Amino acid sequence: MKTIGVLTSGGDAPGMNAAIRAVVRMGIAKGIKVMGIQRGYNGLINGEIFEMNRTSVSDIIQRGGTILKTARSEEFKTEEGRKKAFNVLRVFGIEGLIVIGGDGSFRGAQLISNEHTIKTVGVPGTIDNDLAYTDYSIGFDTALNTVLDAINKLRDTSTSHERVSIVEVMGRKCGDIALYSGLAGGAESIIIPEKKYDFNELCKTIIEGKVRGKMHNLILLAEGVGGAEQLSKDIQEVTGIETRATVLGHIQRGGSPSAFDRVLASKLGAKAVDVLIEEKSQRVVGIKNNEVVDIDIDEALRTIREFDEKFYELANILSL
Ligand code: F6P
Repeated sequence: MKTIGVLTSGGDAPGMNAAIRAVVRMGIAKGIKVMGIQRGYNGLINGEIFEMNRTSVSDIIQRGGTILKTARSEEFKTEEGRKKAFNVLRVFGIEGLIVIGGDGSFRGAQLISNEHTIKTVGVPGTIDNDLAYTDYSIGFDTALNTVLDAINKLRDTSTSHERVSIVEVMGRKCGDIALYSGLAGGAESIIIPEKKYDFNELCKTIIEGKVRGKMHNLILLAEGVGGAEQLSKDIQEVTGIETRATVLGHIQRGGSPSAFDRVLASKLGAKAVDVLIEEKSQRVVGIKNNEVVDIDIDEALRTIREFDEKFYELANILSL
């Protein structure tokens, strides 16, 4: 393996820069030329590629976002687009491609390496934490801390006004951001896509809390379940208690990565280089029981997420 490429794809996540840095510096340490590919698969198709050196990744470990930029490429979803991308990889002499992103980006890597002679390795970078094969993805921990900071602030104002406060966080199919930040932030209720919730029960909990003397009521809502604005109106109408909605949105995707994400990204970026040096292909790297692992990409994408019932139950018991 003489030359490898690295790109970031899909939604950005804090810690992606730390992963790029690890790829570049580990690659160079092992005598490999590392090419940076800008704007995800779109940039690959367009040949937006440049050679990286140790200083190209100086002063980025602490930065959110991705210095390589990112995109969700429609063209790469087509066979034609992937053929173009492969031709570009060949012209630049890139034999191995490291893709930092989520499941959609991994599917792209899986397809191009099935159709062409290019070795691929996926590094999990998404705040959603929705990749079942790895315990954590890069960016999740930082996003949690961002949500927690917002919860702490909302708690102050909700207590002063004795209001219900709904915090809508990201997570279309996976409720991990809501669940973990809900537990850590002491939320009264956590509503996630993995679990059906009963609106009447929710209102009952709010009313009972008020009667018991609760000064506020904090609800963590994952975006995949529905909008916070509507829920807030419905709750206010039924309980008669003033309710406000806050949608945190893309704030959750930014910010300086936490120590956990920087360390995770450094370990996984370096491991991805090692996997390519071993001439393996169609792999993804991740963290399982505190061990850095690499597994087959088909197996990784087939793995169905097991919902952590015990953790959910704990969050519910502690919220009462
Ligand atoms: O997959 C990451 C994510 O932030 C999701 O949590 C969210 O639903 C989505 O991306 C938002 O996408 P966009 O950046 O295209 O608005």
